[in-house]
Amino acid sequence: MNEQTTLQPVIVTGASRGIGAAVARRLAAAGYPLALVARSAEALQALAAELGPDVRPYPCDIADWDAVQQVVTGVVEDFGAVGGLVNNAGMTRDGLFVRMSPEQWRAPLEVNLNGTFHFTRAVAPLMMRARQGSIVNISSVIGLTGNAGQANYAASKAGIIALTKSVAKELGGRGVNCNAIAPGFITTEMTADLPEKVRDGMLGQIPLKRFGTGEDVAGVVEFLLSPAASYITGQTLVVDGGMIL
Ligand code: NAI
Repeated sequence: MNEQTTLQPVIVTGASRGIGAAVARRLAAAGYPLALVARSAEALQALAAELGPDVRPYPCDIADWDAVQQVVTGVVEDFGAVGGLVNNAGMTRDGLFVRMSPEQWRAPLEVNLNGTFHFTRAVAPLMMRARQGSIVNISSVIGLTGNAGQANYAASKAGIIALTKSVAKELGGRGVNCNAIAPGFITTEMTADLPEKVRDGMLGQIPLKRFGTGEDVAGVVEFLLSPAASYITGQTLVVDGGMIL
């Protein structure tokens, strides 16, 4: 998509709320045709209706490979191409490592890492054939630093960074860029349940003295999809107000 003047369709996962909804709003405002993915059909339909006729909902569980393939087939039928992919859907299942069950360990890996693999794997042949495309994976600063109580989530997000670099190396020769974003503390439903004390402690570590917003991440997504970023691939951009400096 980076070299084109007409905006190619972009798939955004986890678009029903939080960062994904902010990304969808920003890209729709920029004129991108959008395929919105999340589990909740209702929330997706409402957002698609709000954003206009070039935005369509595709409810699916990204951990389900067959379902993801069906979505990508449907997107190609509906839009004729896929120029961009934003792998944003994600979840946490926090707990102390010594008490973590194998099921608890696997849950974020199946959604965050396998889900990112599923969508990337499904769109890569299309982008390679078209000799253009841009993939943006939403990792986390936790994937760079690790975090007590989040061994499973940290591993899934570190895996996304390694996946991003590998895909960048394999697909670069076919005109496909692949980058990651590592957000810090972004105010969404995912972070809403953290105790006041933890939130205050985190704020003290952020040089820019505020938590991030979905819009802070959405602007960087738009940049990475744009021609301005056409010579950037395999990178992880940290969007955290300076938190992990
Ligand atoms: P959120 O919990 O508000 O939204 C998550 C979205 O992912 C929802 O649309 C949900 O339907 C979708 N989703 C979850 N599991 C799914 C599945 N199995 N299949 C399809 N869709 C699924 O989360 P938020 O805060 O907007 O986070 C978005 C991404 O940003 C996640 O990958 C998260 O790990 C990452 N992130 C968030 C940070 C934060 O502070 N909020 C910080 C760093 C990274």
